[in-house]
Amino acid sequence: MKILMVCLGNICRSPVAEGIMRSKAEEYGLNIEIDSAGTSGWHNGELPDSRSMANAKENGIDISDQGSRKVVLSDFIEFDLLYAMDESNYNNLIHMCPENFQYKVKMILNEVHPAKNISVPDPYYGNDGFQIVFDLLNEACEKIAINLKQ
Ligand code: 4NP
Repeated sequence: MKILMVCLGNICRSPVAEGIMRSKAEEYGLNIEIDSAGTSGWHNGELPDSRSMANAKENGIDISDQGSRKVVLSDFIEFDLLYAMDESNYNNLIHMCPENFQYKVKMILNEVHPAKNISVPDPYYGNDGFQIVFDLLNEACEKIAINLKQ
């Protein structure tokens, strides 16, 4: 099982989702691979946003070893599940994705609130959204881990 977490810049939300999911995989003993990417490529090669790294660290998760990259076509083949952080990421992924792989693309918060299409808010332009993002992603990743364990 290979999971790709996807946001716009791959510096704020999806690196945190990757870090939390890695931690849940260890906690639950899951044999899965996890990566993250952005739909934009604007921050290619950069570390996660310093605010995301600091917030994740406060919550016991180290994401300082990650580097931003853009989603590529082969991701739709290689990964079993691609989790979009928000509706815009979801629409961009579906637009890029060959039709026969579109079933792999999901909104991450639908794991907690099925079919509601709720977005993880983009914290990039504010300072106070990082803990909210962490809590939402922690809840979603916990659910994903429990479902994979069964
Ligand atoms: P992310 O946040 O998609 O959660 O990584 C953003 C990062 C960068 C930008 C926007 C959102 N940006 O406009 O550069």
